[in-house]
Amino acid sequence: MKKMKRRDFVSFLGKASLGMIVAPAFLSSCGNSTTPILSKVLSIEELKRLKAFPLENLLPSDKDDLLLTKGLDYHTVIKWNEKISDSDTFGFNNDFTCFIPLDKNNPKDGLLWVNHEYINRLYVSDFNYRDFENPKEHLTRAQVDKEMYNVGGSIVRIKEENGVWKVVQNDPNNRRITAKTPIQFNWDTPIKGKTEAIGTLANCSGGITPWNTFLTCEENYDSFYGETYYDEDNNSKKIPSHYYNWEDFYDHPTEHYGWVVEVNPKDGSAQKHIALGRFAHECCTLYELEDKRVVAYTGDDKNNEHLYKFVGSKPGSLKEGTLYVADTVNGAWLALDWGNQPKLQQRFKNQTEVLIRAREAAKILGATPLNRPEDIEIDPISGNIFISLTNNKPKHDFHGSILKIEETAGKFNALTFKVSTYKAGGKENGFSCPDNLAFDMAGNLWMTSDMSGNAMNREDKPYMPYKNNSLFVIPRYGKDKGKVIRVASAPKDAELTGPWFSPDGNTLFLSVQHPGEQTVDVNNPTSTWPFDGDNIPKPAVVAITGDLIEKMNHLNKIEVLHD
Ligand code: FEO
Ligand code: CA
Ligand code: CA
Repeated sequence: MKKMKRRDFVSFLGKASLGMIVAPAFLSSCGNSTTPILSKVLSIEELKRLKAFPLENLLPSDKDDLLLTKGLDYHTVIKWNEKISDSDTFGFNNDFTCFIPLDKNNPKDGLLWVNHEYINRLYVSDFNYRDFENPKEHLTRAQVDKEMYNVGGSIVRIKEENGVWKVVQNDPNNRRITAKTPIQFNWDTPIKGKTEAIGTLANCSGGITPWNTFLTCEENYDSFYGETYYDEDNNSKKIPSHYYNWEDFYDHPTEHYGWVVEVNPKDGSAQKHIALGRFAHECCTLYELEDKRVVAYTGDDKNNEHLYKFVGSKPGSLKEGTLYVADTVNGAWLALDWGNQPKLQQRFKNQTEVLIRAREAAKILGATPLNRPEDIEIDPISGNIFISLTNNKPKHDFHGSILKIEETAGKFNALTFKVSTYKAGGKENGFSCPDNLAFDMAGNLWMTSDMSGNAMNREDKPYMPYKNNSLFVIPRYGKDKGKVIRVASAPKDAELTGPWFSPDGNTLFLSVQHPGEQTVDVNNPTSTWPFDGDNIPKPAVVAITGDLIEKMNHLNKIEVLHD
């Protein structure tokens, strides 16, 4: 019986059917990059047996449940407010997840990082702004302290036994990073007079480094401490936060947020990477070049903002290097480099100012405004870069698209590229508002959608046909190749976020974020998912398992073998 190891298989696949394979040494997507681990060796016979499987497209649904297509199951790994140790609890609105095995030979035991992006005051701080004519006057420091504890991230050790992932209670690795945790700036010049920030917040998506640390990205930071704006004459004006108003209790400068933050899984130590610029970072997706320098792709999730790429100049550094911004009209990466850009010298005093005010600098150089760049992933087979552009309602782009970038000659540090639309949202493809992306081990692309809670399932909005937010897969091979197949439907008002494959490709970790977000009265929640008897909608991380995940990860390739 001829046995074929999976990695041989992938490499065969690349050479046999796809011509040139970029075969990245390190990828931060898919099983997700941390080099996939071989859990077993499949025989050709096994592959054949598993070849034929139905991939059923779920119909759109507005049901308050996490619905899965045939061949998938889920169980909850952890939910909001559960204890992770004697002193800490799991935070709110989980987004990005990232699993790193403790021992690379055991894909069933490791550390799970989970982002906690923002909070729902109704549940976290028992504060309903609808109760007050002037809500700001009634908010207390104690309430804000609870809110600060519930954002940031969690590290939990999880183990799979008999097909079920469970948190290892009180494991010494379990810890919280919150809006109160001191975090160093990885920069030589102080930021607003300080060398460290207090806390991280708005942690949306993220990434993983080649040296196996977590990256967590600060996205809508202006909701917490406001933002500083500059007029034509460079006079600054601080606009207070439009939502949480934490600045009424703590005077942390808004310039301390809006960064990519790296967290060491082993001890929870963290640093903010100034060289990657300050804006509403959705994610940060790394690629390691042969000489160990790092390329980082990161987008600014705001209408008409930009796509960025950092290219390191020293091995393993996210500090030494150049930050570029994309001109997608001309296919060029423009250097946000104060020393070499007279236009930037006219506006900013130094490189630190350029990085803090990266949005302004990008516009001065002629960067292309994009329709809210969300997640970015690198195709493990072609090496192309895929970017979700979720929507831009004022420009009447309601359904978004997925953008494809091909770096010149397949070089990730190239300064030019080709750009095209890979898939457009809308009726033809059956999805709207693409957000998170994840490639599995076979190169199938998984995608979540993020239609906003106040626009879903409403007759007067263009999102009605799509019903609840969902998880989709775009198969790479077989009869459904290139189609967008809905494989999961979220509970009411929720968004599915943070898809991350276990290293053996047999589990898809997924966050269920903000179920029941449209609730106005806690006694009548719009969702009660995850149905644990509390009558409270709770964000939670689930593990999706089942034949379909295994087959999608390992077995579509057989069809190519027989081509
Ligand atoms: Fe937090 Fe861009 O989604
Ligand atoms: Ca997102
Ligand atoms: Ca989003």
